[in-house]
Amino acid sequence: MAEQHSSKSIMWATIIVTAILIAIIYPLTAYKGGSTANISSAADEADIRIQPVARFELAKAEAPAVSGPRDGATVYNAVCGACHNTGAAGAPKIDDKGAWASRLASGKDALIKSVANGKGAMPAKGGAALSDDEIKGVVEYVISKVK
Ligand code: HEC
Repeated sequence: MAEQHSSKSIMWATIIVTAILIAIIYPLTAYKGGSTANISSAADEADIRIQPVARFELAKAEAPAVSGPRDGATVYNAVCGACHNTGAAGAPKIDDKGAWASRLASGKDALIKSVANGKGAMPAKGGAALSDDEIKGVVEYVISKVK
């Protein structure tokens, strides 16, 4: 009887250990097997995770169209400052009043025309997509800073 009892214990211990091993190993093998096959679903997950960011960027890009033309300071900082803050490409600097005196003398309309069509190393509209209102607004902003 004692012998039978202990062999029963061994049998149960074996079953339990086996069950535990299966419980540990099976999920591991299932995971490994799935990891290469699931690349596209991982990519989908990545898409889903970056989606809110992409939507946020779109909302930002569309904002000006909804809220009308951007004001002069906004356009200046986004487009014109790259050259006119630093003097890049030989641009007259925004803080160099002397460099602007003769240009101001030609009048606002002439300056608007220069910005709209480009002049020298300055590309038309500073190289950006600007509406007529935005060009007028940003030229008025520049004039207010340099006179
Ligand atoms: C790529 C550099 C660059 C960018 C960007 C740029 N400019 Fe200029 N800008 C210049 C240069 C260079 C000149 C001098 C052109 C010349 O007289 O030959 C100039 C000249 C001007 C003048 C004087 C024009 C005249 O008739 O004398 C105005 C006004 C002006 N820029 C405004 C702007 C505004 C507003 C923006 C943004 C929408 C802008 N610029 C973006 C380079 C730039």
